[in-house]
Amino acid sequence: MSKTIIANWKMNLSVKESILLGAKVAKIKTENDIIICPDFLSLSEIKSKIKENNIYLGAQNCAAYSPGSYTGEVLAKSISEIGASYVIIGHSERRKFQKESNTLINNKIKQALQAGLKVILCIGENNIEKKNDKTNFVLNVQLKEALKDLEKTDLARISIAYEPVWAIGSGRTPKIEELNTISTFIKSFIYSSYQKRVKVFYGGSVNANNAGDFLETKTINGLLIGGASLNYPEFSKICKKNYDR
Ligand code: PGA
Repeated sequence: MSKTIIANWKMNLSVKESILLGAKVAKIKTENDIIICPDFLSLSEIKSKIKENNIYLGAQNCAAYSPGSYTGEVLAKSISEIGASYVIIGHSERRKFQKESNTLINNKIKQALQAGLKVILCIGENNIEKKNDKTNFVLNVQLKEALKDLEKTDLARISIAYEPVWAIGSGRTPKIEELNTISTFIKSFIYSSYQKRVKVFYGGSVNANNAGDFLETKTINGLLIGGASLNYPEFSKICKKNYDR
């Protein structure tokens, strides 16, 4: 079974830099699916470079509103029109720096789904929550509130990225057993609430050395990669691995 490898470039690259990297990533030949998530301004140009049918485009965010007077916001429908098929919603950096709440995230998901996009919903506990044994509690609240009022059919277009905040950009990662328990918890939560099987991705300090371990974990369907996705040789190495063991 192929896995999904998501490149989250965040705000690390300018448009010119994104297009250069995008042109290379767009040519990677692999059994796995790749989703390239550059900044909004690079989406259109990178879309034109993608020739492989298992390479997709995703945005890193979308507005929580229907068309209207929201200066500076980006409409989910525009993201879809430009040729992106995915959007990352609820990344911990947006929860932290833009103070995004689960309610806002819920509205963004609804807008994205209405626009025909597929959603990669990010959830994860911070260091203090982990130390206080609150991981399951936090994930439960994030899932319940972010997915509020959604229908079973909506869940067909949602995947969950488990990204412990303490692991992002820190070089620290969860133990495989821990990760397995948590991804099983997420899948069971969704199955018992919506009778749907969701894909669960892992994100946080993934690199070419540890990617194989995560991907060999049966309950992990893919990876959301920040830092290592900016390094073409490293990223293509991760994408090209065959994890069917
Ligand atoms: P990282 O970021 O791979 O640099 O830790 C992952 C993410 O924030 O999506």
